[in-house]
Amino acid sequence: MDDVDRIRDRIDELDQEIVRLLKNRYENARLLGRIKQKRGLDYRDPEREKIILRKMERTATSLDIDSKFIRPIFEQILALSVEAQQDHLGKSGKKLDQTRILIVGGTGGMGRFFAKFASLQGAKVRLAGREINKTRTAAKEIEVEPGTILDAASSDTVILAVPTEETVRVATETASLMTNGSLLTDLSSVKTGISDRIAEKIPKGLEYVSLHPLFGPNIDHLHDQTIIAVSYNAGQKWSKLARALQSAGAKVQTMSAAQHDRTMAYVQGLHHFALISLGIGLDGMGGEPKTQSLRETEGKIANMLDNWDTIVGIQQLNPFLPAIRQKFLEVATTLAQTRPKPASGVKKRLASNVQKWTHKL
Ligand SMILES: NC(=O)c1ccc[n+]([C@@H]2O[C@H](COP(=O)([O-])OP(=O)(O)OC[C@H]3O[C@@H](n4cnc5c(N)ncnc54)[C@H](OP(=O)(O)O)[C@@H]3O)[C@@H](O)[C@H]2O)c1
Repeated sequence: MDDVDRIRDRIDELDQEIVRLLKNRYENARLLGRIKQKRGLDYRDPEREKIILRKMERTATSLDIDSKFIRPIFEQILALSVEAQQDHLGKSGKKLDQTRILIVGGTGGMGRFFAKFASLQGAKVRLAGREINKTRTAAKEIEVEPGTILDAASSDTVILAVPTEETVRVATETASLMTNGSLLTDLSSVKTGISDRIAEKIPKGLEYVSLHPLFGPNIDHLHDQTIIAVSYNAGQKWSKLARALQSAGAKVQTMSAAQHDRTMAYVQGLHHFALISLGIGLDGMGGEPKTQSLRETEGKIANMLDNWDTIVGIQQLNPFLPAIRQKFLEVATTLAQTRPKPASGVKKRLASNVQKWTHKL
């Protein structure tokens, strides 16, 4: 490949990235539109538009780009934003129209994410947390209703977004209040010993599908995100929720609890374990100068602190993880003792693994 092709490839990649960023901006504008409508605010704010344009022109100048090209681009982006704010009214379809959804653990990260998603899909959403004032504040911030676990009795669907280790207890308590035919779902990151126990304990007349979103609460939208579904008793309510998730761009993949945990032991458990070990191993010595690669890894390590309870829950509760951690430690010990010549064998093994995982993508 010569330089012209290489540069064109890079430009193509950047164009894709620009469109992805516009999608993130669009979805945030949709959320904003929903809140503005509820608060009786105008979709357009000419003063804010002027501030944004000035800021972008200054940024362009500081990056040595002629600002006269930047203004028309951002005028178009602002027009798209106004369109996005109106889009919350339903142009993209409201798959959960009038569905009553209670989110238990609604004050937390994942609870808020699913409350915003369901609300944009037309659902009547209530949040329940442990403390009423905190619940009221969270509900007000995202313009949904505050509630309590007792609202489970009048909800079509209850989503549990509580810590992994509390999921069985909260599920059992919530399910005892729910009416036959309604759907219970949880978001627990570990399934063995959790979703199978819930399925045993709850009334048989309830739909129950245990979900695991393979993303954290800080994403902007569901497009291209994977959600694992462990299905125990799926009916119409689940079909409706699954359609809503899919229409928002999520991929819903079904598997058993054991299959889920075996896969997640690598995908999450080992990955987190290696990053935590590296974060501790760096021992606060991440001084300057730094490579771009280390900066990116440090960013991933730092992000883990935002989801620490979930990460600890996976390390402690996934039954497949101890053996995999042990194997990893053995590999690391062997590698530390490897002399230069056999290092070519290490490269071969690594290259073969890389090939396997890139093929699967
Ligand atoms: N974070 C992630 O990246 C991620 C990704 C996929 C799945 N998940 C799963 O999503 C679930 C929630 O995670 P999260 O990150 O959203 O957690 P979070 O931000 O800590 O929120 C936890 C929520 O549960 C409530 N809660 C805490 N302890 C409780 C207890 N003992 N009894 C009842 N409610 C309790 C909290 O209420 P208060 O406001 O009263 O504290 C809060 O509303 C977990 O099962 C996790 O495995 C998380």
